[in-house]
Amino acid sequence: MTTFQNDLFLRACKRLPVERTPIWVMRQAGRYLPEYRAVRQKYDFLTMCKTPDLATEVTLQPIDLIGVDAAIIFSDILVIPEAMGMHLEMHEGVGPVFPHPIRNESDAQTLNKIDPTVDLKYVLDAVTLTKNELNRRVPLIGFSGSPWTLLAYMVEGQGSKTFSNVKKLIYSNPKLAHSLLNKVADAVSAYLSAKIEAGVNAVQIFDTWGGILSKDDFESFSMKYIRKVISKVKREDEPIIVFAKGVHFSLDKLSDSGADVLGLDWTMDIGQVRKKFGNKVALQGNLDPTVLYADDEKIKQEAVKILNAFGNGSGHIFNLGHGILPDVPPENLKLLVNIVKEESVVYHLNEKNTASMNEAMFDYNTIWHCS
Ligand code: CP3
Repeated sequence: MTTFQNDLFLRACKRLPVERTPIWVMRQAGRYLPEYRAVRQKYDFLTMCKTPDLATEVTLQPIDLIGVDAAIIFSDILVIPEAMGMHLEMHEGVGPVFPHPIRNESDAQTLNKIDPTVDLKYVLDAVTLTKNELNRRVPLIGFSGSPWTLLAYMVEGQGSKTFSNVKKLIYSNPKLAHSLLNKVADAVSAYLSAKIEAGVNAVQIFDTWGGILSKDDFESFSMKYIRKVISKVKREDEPIIVFAKGVHFSLDKLSDSGADVLGLDWTMDIGQVRKKFGNKVALQGNLDPTVLYADDEKIKQEAVKILNAFGNGSGHIFNLGHGILPDVPPENLKLLVNIVKEESVVYHLNEKNTASMNEAMFDYNTIWHCS
């Protein structure tokens, strides 16, 4: 098993003892960093995704510049539908667009079964290169959209306020919706498994649009397929994180899904969720991303509130409750990272002895990188 200079993130995912709470943030490789924008000025987004050197460069930026405890490979959730045959464009100010969305049976037939080692080889190459460049400093996270969130984009063609097209599909032609979700779930499972084979140390499934469904529809059209993916991807060593936004109503199902970690958005009370499900899963989150617009004092107050709500012991990975926003000053994120590193130590004081025991047992690294 790989050892890392800093494996706090992996230990927290497994609820093993840690010396402090680890932190990384969703969308940490992105536009809030001037260094990212400098690369982005020269290349379009999809070229960056498809060029392993460039993907590696921006993946490493938040490790070197901000000091987070895990890297997440630079890519996008929409590379899967693109690999299945959908033409993808990036429109400035709009985001990703599929000009030919999937709306009926004949559209659905145009979708190919993917072989990730061929169709998404560029991501796997970026993983290999990034692992080399990281040189075991911190673990690397791979990710995918959930089948439901990917289907939402594939049917809408782009982001939407109402998601009326994909909701029309589930109510007017549920059979087609399920057949598409099965196809996408197979692609997601193959892709995440290939990423693990290529060397990622954990994977995160983003169900960004799970929260637009009712409780029953969430079970039928999202949860069922998340479970299917997890059952196919699950390994002994690489933790699986599920982040489902706005899904208060099904935290019980998510915590029984086989995932090791539950990602929480900022509207949930991490202390309450821990009381209910903390014996089954680790928790990741959940600072409101807009807190990073506040002054230093307020950022500290809100970060400590979350550390305190989680309380003593391992099983917490600090993160934002959704992606970092592009106009956040990078120094505010750096401040947050340092606050979490310093202020979380007191919540782990009794874990150290058992930590070295567990590290020996689980063959995790015993060197703690003090930064
Ligand atoms: O977290 C990371 O740093 C890894 C990189 C990452 C990106 N997208 C890069 C990106 C990850 C994990 C994603 C996931 C993603 N992509 C999600 C799920 C997470 C979430 O935020 O809910 C979704 C829904 C997408 C689809 C997507 N990609 C949208 C809606 C947009 C446009 C909105 C925006 O932020 O611009 C993108 C583009 C995108 N993906 C950018 C980045 C850095 C910005 C592109 C640019 O540089 O212009």
